[in-house]
Amino acid sequence: MTTTLRQLKSAFRIESLATTDNGVNITWKDGHKSFYHHLWLLDSCRCPQCFQRDTLSLNSGHDLLKIPLNPTAQAVKLNHQGDLDIVWGGEQTGHHSVFDASWLRVHCYQDPALKQSPKRQLWDASVSLPHFDYHEMMNDNEVLLSCLNQMLELGAAMIDNAPKNEESFRAVIERVGPLRQRYHPTNIFKLDRTDTKAQEIQHSYQVENLRNHTDVTAYDIPTGLQFLECLLYENPDNDRQAYSTIVDGFKLAQVIKAENPWFYELLTTEYIPAGRRRLSVEEKLSENDLGTQKYEWEAYRHNHVINLDENGEVYQVKYNHNTRVPLEVSNDKIHDLLAAYRRFSQLAIDPQYNAEFLVAPGQILVVDNWRILHGRTGIWNPNLKRIVLGAYVEEETFRCRRRILLGEKTGMSDLWLMGCSDRALEILAERTVDY
Ligand SMILES: [Fe+2]
Repeated sequence: MTTTLRQLKSAFRIESLATTDNGVNITWKDGHKSFYHHLWLLDSCRCPQCFQRDTLSLNSGHDLLKIPLNPTAQAVKLNHQGDLDIVWGGEQTGHHSVFDASWLRVHCYQDPALKQSPKRQLWDASVSLPHFDYHEMMNDNEVLLSCLNQMLELGAAMIDNAPKNEESFRAVIERVGPLRQRYHPTNIFKLDRTDTKAQEIQHSYQVENLRNHTDVTAYDIPTGLQFLECLLYENPDNDRQAYSTIVDGFKLAQVIKAENPWFYELLTTEYIPAGRRRLSVEEKLSENDLGTQKYEWEAYRHNHVINLDENGEVYQVKYNHNTRVPLEVSNDKIHDLLAAYRRFSQLAIDPQYNAEFLVAPGQILVVDNWRILHGRTGIWNPNLKRIVLGAYVEEETFRCRRRILLGEKTGMSDLWLMGCSDRALEILAERTVDY
C-alpha cells in the first residue's frame, strides 16, 4: 500500500530561484512565490554536522552561539533532484546545506494554506456518525487514518463488528497507541449494571439518566479519546433505555457566543472548579484475580468550561456538573457566572443538539473527550442488562498516531517529516497532482 502511494505522490517542484542579499526567492511550478531568509535556512540546516540522522535532533555542530546572525551564501542552486542547494560563505565557508523542495514548500510562511486551522464540522442532533469496520481498523492504516481524521472533523465515530471481549477492545485502541493510565489499577473499566460493588462508588451507576458531560474534569489534562464498547444489551421493555447521548461541545460554545457574548466571556475566563476524592477504594486487577488493589484519588482543578487557544479558537471543553465543587468567584460575578453555566447546562441536554442512539453489542463509540460531551438515557427497568467497556488514550497519543500515518502517506524520509506541523503533513499527504 505504502509503495503504491509513494509512486503516486509527487513532490512540490521549484521552477526558478533568485538570490538576494539576505535570502532566496523561489518561484514554484504552481506559481506560488516564497522567500526564505538566509538565517532561517542556516538555522534549519539538516546536514549531518547540524542534525543527527539517527536521533533526528540537533547535533553539536548546530550551535546557536556560533551561528552568524547575518550569514552569507557563496553559491545557491537547484541540485539534480530539484532541491535547494546552498554553499555558505564568510564564517561558514565550507558549510553545505541541501533542503528538500517539498519540505521547503510546507515551511513557506507566506502560504496561507499553512495557516488554515483544522477542518471542523460543528454538528447538532441531526449528525450522522461515520462508521468504521473493526477488522478494517485493525488491518488497514488508511481506514485508521480516516477514523482519526473524523475525530478532528466531528469528534465522534462508531466502530462496528467488534469482537465482544476485552482483548479485542484493547487491541483496536492500541492501534492508536497506549491506553491512558487511569488512577484506578485497571486501564479498562467495565460498567455492568449488576455490579453492586461498583454502584457504591461510581456515580454513573446510581442515576437513572446520565447527563452529558466530559470525563476527568478534575485533572489538568483530561483524557483525549474515549472508547466505549457495548458487550451486552438486553432490554425487556424494548424502548430507548440506556441509549447513548452525545453533544458537540464546540457547537454549544458557538451557540452561546452568538446568543450571549457576556456568558461566553465568563465561561472562557472564569473558573468552575472540579474535585474527586476516593480513598481506600479497592478494585480487582482482572476477573480472575482473587485479591484486590487499593487506590486513592484526591484530585482538584479549576477549569474554564470553554478553553481558547492563542488564536481565540475553542480547543477544549471541560464540563461535568457532577464533579463541580464550590465556586471561586467574586461576589459581583456569581450571579452571571452561574447563569452562564446554567445556560451551557441547558444546551447540553437540548434535543436540538443532543444526538441519541443505541450503541449495540459489538459496537464501539469513540469520542474526543476534549470536545464531545457524552451521557446516556435513563434506566428504570431493574431487569435491563447492559455491560460496557471503557478506556482512554491521551489526546497527544491520538495526534501522534495521526501524524505518523500522514507521514507514511507522503513517502518522504524521517529527516524531512520530523518537525513538520500537522498542517504541513496534511498538505504533503494529500498531494496527488504534479504541478
Ligand atoms: Fe463519562
